[in-house]
Amino acid sequence: MGGRYSDKWHEVHLINPRDVVPQSNMPAFPWLAENTLDGELTGEKMSILRNLHKGGYKGGDLYTDEEIAGAQKAVEGKTELQALIAYLQSLGHALK
Ligand code: HEM
Repeated sequence: MGGRYSDKWHEVHLINPRDVVPQSNMPAFPWLAENTLDGELTGEKMSILRNLHKGGYKGGDLYTDEEIAGAQKAVEGKTELQALIAYLQSLGHALK
């Protein structure tokens, strides 16, 4: 899925699928654009994921200490819509 559609396409599609796919039966998720992240647990989640995958990602760790320390600031105030689109755009790109 990553890179297959633009961020804008995902934005419109998640808020109202029928705006881009008229016959779509996918439900709309308009509240994703309203809910914001506080990032309170983001660093902790990254730390746990890093421990689960220790050294197993291209021979290195998933995240650096700096990334974990800066995680809350990096996502704070972003919407759930932005977060979900970033996730969708990452799919299929872990292996180059
Ligand atoms: C948060 C939950 C969901 C996300 C993030 C999501 C995301 C997406 C994405 C990225 C596509 C494009 C797929 C592609 O072109 O290969 C898509 C298409 C589609 N999704 Fe979802 N979807 C969600 C929930 C649902 C649900 C609950 C349904 C049905 C009950 C559904 C039905 C469809 C259908 C039918 C399509 C084909 C394109 C369209 O008709 O809009 N989706 N979805």
